[in-house]
Amino acid sequence: MMQMKTNNISDNDINNHDIAEDSVDITQLRTPIKVDLSPIYNFLGARTTQAWVDAAIADLPTIIQDHANCEKKAAGTAMNLIFRYEFSYDLQRKLAQLIREEMLHYEQVLGIMSDRGQEWRYLSAGRYAKGMLKHKRTYEPAAMVDVLIIGAFIEARSCERFAALAEVIDDERLAKYYRYLLKSESRHFEDYLALAQSLSEDTIDERVAFFKEIEAELIVIPDTELRFHSGTPA
Ligand SMILES: [Fe+2]
Ligand SMILES: [Fe+2]
Repeated sequence: MMQMKTNNISDNDINNHDIAEDSVDITQLRTPIKVDLSPIYNFLGARTTQAWVDAAIADLPTIIQDHANCEKKAAGTAMNLIFRYEFSYDLQRKLAQLIREEMLHYEQVLGIMSDRGQEWRYLSAGRYAKGMLKHKRTYEPAAMVDVLIIGAFIEARSCERFAALAEVIDDERLAKYYRYLLKSESRHFEDYLALAQSLSEDTIDERVAFFKEIEAELIVIPDTELRFHSGTPA
């Protein structure tokens, strides 16, 4: 089990975050951004299979389209939370930052799609998020804690998959972009976890362990659809 952050998110935490991220020109990214992925690998209950990586590389347009959808959904989920849970100043600030960053990622993925000459197409959501959300408790604050823990898993998995794809993608610009995303998505994972813990009087470890198993199963069990967070190709 990974170390949880302390309950209070300091101003320093918030200010340390890359406000300059807005100004990053993704065509100008140089060396890979080094991110220690070991907390991500420890947090997740299973690693992405080679079969998923192979299927993803063989159908990058689907992965990129679904990634665009995921960025928009990440912003939408954070936007729902910001309206729903207005009592916490820390939560509001973190969510406002998250929304801004996810929308920036959305815009960047749209730019990549357009540069690759990829047409926008409708793609249904996979089973992944639903597969976790159906286990969300229905009373507060437990529901909110669960949504935040699920958010941490989605971010951690995204990070793990960006790393896996960046290793093997031929398109150097896309590989660089995925490496660049590791930095913010690994921070989002930690933010979600810290928020979940800060809103809960007891330790959230047991809930994290519960969702760890569910999430790993969704990644390992055969899946008929290829998506950014899909399981092993059936
Ligand atoms: Fe994102
Ligand atoms: Fe994110």
